[in-house]
Amino acid sequence: MKIIIINGPNLNLLGKREPEVYGNQSFEDYFGGLQTRFPQVDLEYYQSNIEGELIDKIQQTGFSYDGIILNAAAYTHTSVGIGDAVKAIASPVIEVHISNTFSRESFRHQSFISPSAKGIIIGFGLQSYELALRHFLQ
Ligand code: DQA
Repeated sequence: MKIIIINGPNLNLLGKREPEVYGNQSFEDYFGGLQTRFPQVDLEYYQSNIEGELIDKIQQTGFSYDGIILNAAAYTHTSVGIGDAVKAIASPVIEVHISNTFSRESFRHQSFISPSAKGIIIGFGLQSYELALRHFLQ
């Protein structure tokens, strides 16, 4: 099974960025743990701060991978382009967020991805990614 985790802007700063919201662990460290716990999955990780690069990666993987776990971060709330890319591809996408976006500012309540996502996992910290992965493994 081939799964990719795609992270959007500022998620490269996990562990340093607003630890009271996003925790103390870097994503690289968390990802290493996921790979150890799920050796049967061909698990890939990609991060970019650039909207077009995220769209390119969604297009490149979205017709051959078994699933995409997407945290588009701030672009979730602004990007028609990423929403359209998710709509355009064949692979199922699970939208994830580390924080509970609905308990935060109202601009975070809007998502251009949710209408085309297979499902949404929000607010479980980094565990949101593992919950999404477990769905794909079922
Ligand atoms: C986030 C929530 C977004 O609102 C925010 O812009 C992020 C991270 C999350 O995972 O909680 O950068 O997607």
